[in-house]
Amino acid sequence: MDRQQSRKYPMSIGKKDTARLLIHHLSLGGGVDTVRRMFYVVVVSLVLCFLLLLPGEVSSPAGTALTSSGCDGRYIFVQELPARFNVDLLRNCCVFSRWAGDACHLADNGGFGRGLGGDWYATDQFTLELIFHSRMRQYECLTDDPDRAAAVFVPFYPGIEMGHHLWGSNVSVRDAAPLELAQWLRSRPEWTKMGGRDHFMVAGRITWDFRRWTEDGDWGSKLLLLPELKSMTTLIIESSPWHRNDMAIPYPTYFHPSTVAELTAWQNRVLKQSRPWLFSFAGAPRWRPPNSTASLRDLSIEQCRASARCKLLDCAGERAGSCFSPRRIMALFESSVFCLQPVGDSPTRRSTFDAMVAGCVPVFFHPGSAYTQYAWHLPRDYRRYSVFLPEEVVRQGNESIELALRKITAEEVAAMRKEVVGMLPRLVYGDRRRGAAEFDDAFDVAVEKVIERVQKQRKQITEGTADAVAEEKYTWKQSLVSTNLGEDEWDHYFSHWG
Ligand SMILES: *[C@@H]1O[C@H](CO)[C@@H](O)[C@H](O)[C@H]1NC(C)=O
Ligand SMILES: *[C@@H]1O[C@H](CO)[C@@H](O)[C@H](O)[C@H]1NC(C)=O
Ligand SMILES: *[C@@H]1O[C@H](CO)[C@@H](O)[C@H](O)[C@H]1NC(C)=O
Repeated sequence: MDRQQSRKYPMSIGKKDTARLLIHHLSLGGGVDTVRRMFYVVVVSLVLCFLLLLPGEVSSPAGTALTSSGCDGRYIFVQELPARFNVDLLRNCCVFSRWAGDACHLADNGGFGRGLGGDWYATDQFTLELIFHSRMRQYECLTDDPDRAAAVFVPFYPGIEMGHHLWGSNVSVRDAAPLELAQWLRSRPEWTKMGGRDHFMVAGRITWDFRRWTEDGDWGSKLLLLPELKSMTTLIIESSPWHRNDMAIPYPTYFHPSTVAELTAWQNRVLKQSRPWLFSFAGAPRWRPPNSTASLRDLSIEQCRASARCKLLDCAGERAGSCFSPRRIMALFESSVFCLQPVGDSPTRRSTFDAMVAGCVPVFFHPGSAYTQYAWHLPRDYRRYSVFLPEEVVRQGNESIELALRKITAEEVAAMRKEVVGMLPRLVYGDRRRGAAEFDDAFDVAVEKVIERVQKQRKQITEGTADAVAEEKYTWKQSLVSTNLGEDEWDHYFSHWG
């Protein structure tokens, strides 16, 4: 793994495509005149009424009921950080990403990025910090009184901050803001109550960007290794399997619906979509040392290219631009039954969530790509919504990916797709700028779970008990508990990292 070169670069869309983007999607957005808009509304309403009458349709997305109306036990106190820890970091965001052509728009629309019409945005994969902070401002149970709060939110933008220093800065530069933040938090009266154990923050880059392997290593900061941050909970797009202080939550996608009607219309659309391709893959090969074994990513590309039933979106070199186009990415996944999600620079991929939004069943080769990561948001029984092809089976070449996927019956596929589509409300970051919550989204699920976690810790502190769980290095196992997984079946996946 070549960290400097192959790290996931902030991704934005190409320049040419934006005008025509996603016009086939339900679009009530800018530029549509009033008459057309009204026409749209009437047509959409009729279509919705019709859809609601059909049997087997999604009439309301799964898990939408907002059960708890009161705020008791749900109050969040937002720590007021000096601007240098968040909004000031956006001032230079045109330069902070060296690869993204569109970095200046990252922070538009509360972190969703540039609008593409309707509920669609050119959302960068590393903007979760902005999305979360902006959503927190709309959270219905904010309090000014720390004593009343169930948890304390720290709106630091560690990934954006890190983006300024990942390449070519020395260790003291990379650690400066993390150390300053830790010291600042520790000096606050709110900190002393639980020693920070009721504090949480969000990091929009993967855990290894904040867990430097060695004191003077050339990649990452030591943010998540600091004692203060070990007490806190950090919500992150990819967590460490061996540490407790971070918890993975979904990557942002391009889809940010605000109402149940918009969500339901989309769910019904992707359920019905015709999907000419059995499977597809969007990605580029990675550099690998001569004579080293092919990665699953290489094998995915190779086998996809060789199969008449696979569609490849090649992101290598000149062609990389198409992989930054939300329209092309979504069109690919919407026309595929299965979407391959091999390990890349790190085990998780944003593409997993884009695929699921498109109603494409994800295919994983490593349990660390999703099953041991997003335990708060994904069902425990991974067989219900995904296909797991163990890496070693594909690698030994006993059975091609295509052959394995062709064995899955149409009924099984339909059931999995229905499950994936039913999960969507919990996987997307909804747009609450236009009003009240109509469904629990990825943010709501995360906040609820953080509060549960803090409550558990509070109970342990008052009762003087300790967590009964195993050693920290087995953290990844806690999220499993899948029906009939042998105790040690997946140990070899987590005994080392590629
Ligand atoms: C690290 O880099 C900064 C800025 O370039 C410089 O001022 C500082 O002296 C460097 N520190 C070390 C220990 O090299
Ligand atoms: C690769 O393997 C071949 C054959 O085993 C060997 O001759 C060659 O030196 C190896 N190359 C490298 C860079 O290790
Ligand atoms: C793959 O095939 C080889 C030889 O044909 C066999 O030894 C091995 O057990 C097979 N592996 C699996 C996972 O079926």
